[in-house]
Amino acid sequence: MGLMNELRAERQPGADAISLGPNEMQTELALGLSEAQAQISPKYFYDPLGSKLFEAICQLDEYYLTRCEAGIFAGNQAEIAEVAGRGVTLIDLGAGNCAKAAKLFRTLRPQQYVPIDISAEFLEAAVDALRAEHPQIPMFPLGMDFSEGLQLPEQVRRERRLFFYPGSSLGNFAPLQALQFLRRIHKASDAQGGLLIGIDLVKDAELLEAAYDDGLGVTAAFNRNVLPHVNSILGSDFNLRDWGHRALFNEKQSRVEMHLQALADVTVRWAGGSRSFAAGETIHTENSYKYTRERFLELLAQAGFGDARCWTDDKKSFLVCYAKTM
Ligand code: AVJ
Repeated sequence: MGLMNELRAERQPGADAISLGPNEMQTELALGLSEAQAQISPKYFYDPLGSKLFEAICQLDEYYLTRCEAGIFAGNQAEIAEVAGRGVTLIDLGAGNCAKAAKLFRTLRPQQYVPIDISAEFLEAAVDALRAEHPQIPMFPLGMDFSEGLQLPEQVRRERRLFFYPGSSLGNFAPLQALQFLRRIHKASDAQGGLLIGIDLVKDAELLEAAYDDGLGVTAAFNRNVLPHVNSILGSDFNLRDWGHRALFNEKQSRVEMHLQALADVTVRWAGGSRSFAAGETIHTENSYKYTRERFLELLAQAGFGDARCWTDDKKSFLVCYAKTM
């Protein structure tokens, strides 16, 4: 996935900061834009507008992932609660609007709810609403980039942690990084802990590409919205009108790639640097890896998780798994 991701993967687990400071974000963005294949990390999608656009994506016909996963949770609630256990410490990775976890509250009855999201502002608003509805559940929202480390504050119980990682978010990591990240989760749980995770499955390129290039253009807006966000962090002068949305399924790597494509020759400048793009050249903004059931179970096992149980929809579009820390 390129230099920045390799750099990120090389960081020592445990020794890392809770999130990048403004200077580090500028460095990361400038480095990414200067690579032969320019890139911007998908985490920069999620400014307040980006988080709202992602919510809108989840309501699109073409974006089957959210619907399939919700159907799987709804159809197997009792069984999921039974294997995952009740009274867990529910740690929601990439909680967003917290809607997915909230639907599990009734059957899971968590002792604590710990939603974590990079978009702190968006998360606080969601948790305020949720507290009013579930006053009996202590909630500890954390605005941080958990891909940088999983150090949790002391109030978060160590016992019976259930890490909840829905929505195929693990798909943003390349397979080796996904393994490293799962191992970090594994290390942060005790023997009674577990992982409840949703992952998108490999399917027809046409269906996959439609999910990432919808007719309304919401995904295009989500992708392009990264540019004003980058401008605000880096002080760069990206002009939205110069950039188009591209999505393609890279079958060999089993991933959907999103790119921003220059519509004309353009030069982008920021304090201390610049980058020229020829018309047609792209900035790679996201990978969404797609798994087979077998490959995903293997990954969970390699990370140390065991006794995996899986659920899917009739079309086998999406997979939800629970596995024990052991
Ligand atoms: C939040 C990473 C799971 O890859 O499907 C949706 C993000 N990008 N449409 C995904 C996304 C374009 C999404 N994840």
